[in-house]
Amino acid sequence: MRAGLLSFVVILLSGVLVACSTSATDTVVLAAGTASAAPQASPSVAPSTVASTAPGAVTGQSTEGLDPQLLGGLAVEVRTRSTFKPRTHVTWPLFGLATVDHAISGHVQRSRHDFRKSYAGTGKKGVAQGPELNLGWRLVGASPNAVGIAIDTVIFAGGTTTESSRSFWFDPATGHLLPATSTEAQAAAASPTLVAPTSPSTTPPRVRQPRRSQVNCAKVKCVALTFDDGPGPDTERLLSYLRKGKVRATFFMLGQQVKAYPKVAKDVARAGHEIGVHTWDHQDLTRLSKADVAAELGDTVRIIGKDTGVTPTLLRPPYGATNARVEAAAARAHLAVALWDVDTLDWKTRSTQATIASALHDTRRGSIVLIHDIHATSVAAVPAIIRGLRHRGYRFVTVSQLLGHPKPGKKYFRRG
Ligand code: NI
Repeated sequence: MRAGLLSFVVILLSGVLVACSTSATDTVVLAAGTASAAPQASPSVAPSTVASTAPGAVTGQSTEGLDPQLLGGLAVEVRTRSTFKPRTHVTWPLFGLATVDHAISGHVQRSRHDFRKSYAGTGKKGVAQGPELNLGWRLVGASPNAVGIAIDTVIFAGGTTTESSRSFWFDPATGHLLPATSTEAQAAAASPTLVAPTSPSTTPPRVRQPRRSQVNCAKVKCVALTFDDGPGPDTERLLSYLRKGKVRATFFMLGQQVKAYPKVAKDVARAGHEIGVHTWDHQDLTRLSKADVAAELGDTVRIIGKDTGVTPTLLRPPYGATNARVEAAAARAHLAVALWDVDTLDWKTRSTQATIASALHDTRRGSIVLIHDIHATSVAAVPAIIRGLRHRGYRFVTVSQLLGHPKPGKKYFRRG
């Protein structure tokens, strides 16, 4: 089970804070571009420089970093590496921008390498105070023109704490590195603002699209499992069940959830599942104006495209609420309206057993089964649903595979 990216980042940043709050920050900030000349933190730094500042002196804005939510439209992947001997915990962000990722990753790898070299064999076996490397990151500047990331390195060794920091600045639209002294970088540090989504010309992340089904649903018993309202904190666990069961499914995502869990959404796409639109914020579309319906569909299509690289072709209107106006809007957005014929009522019962029983009892050939991946009780039902339906001879396909070529604006409850 994996927490969402944002909470992960928060945990991460608070971890850095804990690490930093016990000593003064002897910060060395170097602009990207001087990488080869960057001096590494040296274990010979006098302990007095560390202990002389009053506790609490370092817990300012500069140590804390900016709210990672300012990264807004910029996709962030957080990598973590840990070793027990020697103790290292290293975590750094990747942005899907080749030059930036290369610079940051290179710095991180060099830091790990230098640490291992400097402190090789200095830790006594079984002694708690062996050398330790803690490397974390924080956001130090954000604007549509410049993003600043500080990589903070803390080394504990021989009773000495050595801290250093190095910043990397880049243009989020072009992916080019910027000097820390540039006007854009300084403005982004002085008055941070939300990083705008990258321009439409930016290549979306490449993902493996769902393969054409080898299954002919006209000849064999097919069923489509569908998961609504995510992605959420339980979605990664669901993905692991689907992977183990070799099952392709369909996820009807909310735009606001994709925004909160962009990495999970991307993982769903990478695993080859189909992604459909469930609107931005789960409003009954039949109550909305034509313009608002268009925005609900268009905004969600865009964020799915941006974060997963997938162009959705299906709409599942919240509550199944649809009418001629909604279907016309769906047609304009090139989306077929995918409803369901098996409602497990998992959202109501919140019972794993009842969800399993419904899915196994109500499914017929060509069924579309409605489940919600935002409930842990529902996700827990999935392994038994897969086993049970497979035992009854069903093949698992995505909704598009089940329906063949669903027509934009047309309403479907099941195959046939
Ligand atoms: Ni829903």
